Amino acid sequence: MSAVVITGTQWGDEGKGKIVDYLAARADVVVRFQGGSNAGHTVTVNGEEYKLRLMPSGILYPKTTCVIGNGVVLDPQVILDEMDAMSARGVDVSTVKISNRAHVVMPYHKLFDELNEALRGSNKIGTTKRGIGPCYIDKDDRIGIRVCDLIDGEEFAAKLKTILPLKNRILERVYDHAPLDFDRIVEEYNGYAQRLAPYVCDTISLLNDELDAGKKILFEGAQATMLDIDYGTYPYVTASHPISGGVGVGAGVAPKRIDRVVGVVKAYCTRVGEGPFPTEQLNAIGDQLRECGHEFGTVTGRPRRTGWLDACVVRYAGQLSGIDYMAVTRLDILDTFDEIKMCVGYKLDGKMLNEIPASLKVLARVEPVYETFEGWRTPISAIRSYDELPSAAKKYLERMAEVTGIGLGIVSVGPNRDQTIVLADII
Ligand code: GDP
Ligand code: IMO
Ligand code: MG
Repeated sequence: MSAVVITGTQWGDEGKGKIVDYLAARADVVVRFQGGSNAGHTVTVNGEEYKLRLMPSGILYPKTTCVIGNGVVLDPQVILDEMDAMSARGVDVSTVKISNRAHVVMPYHKLFDELNEALRGSNKIGTTKRGIGPCYIDKDDRIGIRVCDLIDGEEFAAKLKTILPLKNRILERVYDHAPLDFDRIVEEYNGYAQRLAPYVCDTISLLNDELDAGKKILFEGAQATMLDIDYGTYPYVTASHPISGGVGVGAGVAPKRIDRVVGVVKAYCTRVGEGPFPTEQLNAIGDQLRECGHEFGTVTGRPRRTGWLDACVVRYAGQLSGIDYMAVTRLDILDTFDEIKMCVGYKLDGKMLNEIPASLKVLARVEPVYETFEGWRTPISAIRSYDELPSAAKKYLERMAEVTGIGLGIVSVGPNRDQTIVLADII
């Protein structure tokens, strides 16, 4: 038995998809447990790119069960489009299982996401506009529609009959927007329901039975620690729990059954959307990082904000998720830099801080304390063993492990499966 959580340690887009796909070679099941189609996970196999949003990154292995857990907010159109696109490329999607308890993203969720952002103006969060926040709001407000309701036509229509008038009142009176049409939604969603029904099941018993049978499960985090609704830079966060604790509530697998946690760490930092980013480089260094790393969002195409690695953030992620090993990705993007910096602490009013400030006003005032490393100035993408890495690269990695207190498990030097150096037995 082995249950391993893969979690993002920064602001997302660390390369979780690549690491999950790599480790999935030894897994029986891969599970998404939170978030929704706001995620954009890229998997590259033999130079072919697959961009996944709701689909777990184990789908490229024919025998791996791919579970969308109860904690996910499911946009039925997005998962069906993904399944169609995968099938068209010859990928077998019959192994997909969707939780009957997952909440369904409705047209009004996407609309409210868009309208709320517009209303916030310069205070906008910079969401992906996929309806994620509004869908989780309805879940907490107990007016959400779950997958088990979606596939029961009568129940779906009955629920929508009470919910839609409420939503339409808000649309018309608050947002001055035209109401949504009941019949059209029912027709559209009944179509989705018919196609999705064969994949729906009780994923809680499925996962616990698999663990009882000694199977290996990977839990694939979406988003990341600093976007966690409790632990991130609130309110500039997403609406779910990307930390490892999210698995308990989002997949129905008890914390004591988790064997290992891997934190994915991009060798530098990026962020999409608004909110604090202490090591951001609004200068030529930031531009160089964006250009070398082709740092543009998978879901929205927005240019990503860029900066140096913030080891304080990774250390915090380590505490919150109980990270056993780091999977450091995109080290090759730093190949051309003469000098590389790492933030090893925060200073506030001349004093070193021991924690990440909760107040954004305070966080905006912290001064990152940097250590400077010599660059290796040589391509590393063809290297396959830790020993062969340039000594400057090893120095950077070893200092990262020292400052964060987390051991190195994987070093990734390119997007492909074989561009992966493994230092620990993970699954
Ligand atoms: P995720 O959201 O955490 O899964 O990350 P994304 O897929 O949004 O962004 C990571 C990008 O980096 C993708 O395009 C990956 O193919 C790519 N990638 C992952 N690991 C490496 C690596 O070690 N080197 C390079 N050059 N690219 C990588
Ligand atoms: P992956 O899984 C990077 C960001 C958005 C925005 C904030 C809230 O690919 O790492 P939301 O639509 O979730 O309400 O937006 O969170 N965000 C991400 N940033 N990677 C992601 O996912 C993200 N998912 C959401 O840009 O700032
Ligand atoms: Mg991404």
